[in-house]
Amino acid sequence: MIGLFDSGVGGLSVLRAMVQDGINDDFIYFGDTKNVPYGTKSKEQILSYTREIMEFFVQNKVDCAVMACNTSSALVYEELCAEFSDKIKIFPLIQSVAPFFKDEKETIGIMATSATVKSFAYTREIKKLNKNVEVIELECQDFVRIVEDRLYNDASAVEYIKKKAEHLKNAGCKKVILGCTHFPYLAPILSKFAPAVEFIDPAKYLVDVVKKDLIFSKPAKISDGRAFSTFKFYVSSAPEEFKKSGSIFFDIKDEVHLAEFAKC
Ligand code: DGL
Repeated sequence: MIGLFDSGVGGLSVLRAMVQDGINDDFIYFGDTKNVPYGTKSKEQILSYTREIMEFFVQNKVDCAVMACNTSSALVYEELCAEFSDKIKIFPLIQSVAPFFKDEKETIGIMATSATVKSFAYTREIKKLNKNVEVIELECQDFVRIVEDRLYNDASAVEYIKKKAEHLKNAGCKKVILGCTHFPYLAPILSKFAPAVEFIDPAKYLVDVVKKDLIFSKPAKISDGRAFSTFKFYVSSAPEEFKKSGSIFFDIKDEVHLAEFAKC
């Protein structure tokens, strides 16, 4: 069973990429809607939230956890590995994605949450293999609220998105990594304001890494044209609201459950 987690609907962009790329399995998705946004929280807070989620995954017999959240990958990946990697294989976002940029020569822009940008995790991970490339990180925390609250047509939200897109365009970035799983949903609007910039959803690289692992460990889980996946969706608050926002990005057919551990 594969578990994915995020603070809210963002990680559904990763689930969507996994399914579209032919990974078949029993999936559990957890959206920590009680604690969204993660990007304004401290490392200690994020560790405490994600530790509970990982324990929930262990109880539900998850054997592969995908951190469909850049902020937690930036801040607590090592800590979660130290505590849980003997029970669950953990795939982080940033650390899986960065090696794909090892030969990049052009300046790379990163749009991410406040916490991810403050950690400089993208710069650090990319520069491990590509010392000379320039990386410019830009905090776009409000994108999370825009996506969660479906404010795509709100004039001040669109103005904010425009300002952020133009900032990286004017800084000379031809490629921008959407370094928060909520952001790929805004790619069409971003492209409108910076048409020459390639806005990259890094989920495709993470899926590549997971898929390569599954080909060896569980080859039957890679699609041969038949889709036999099952999905269970859990949140820590407001299941109906999650279903409404999330269904724009992923076909959520089943009931969204309020996780027992989140009730107390
Ligand atoms: N979607 C998450 C990420 O990739 C968290 C965003 C947030 O809750 O601030 O960083």
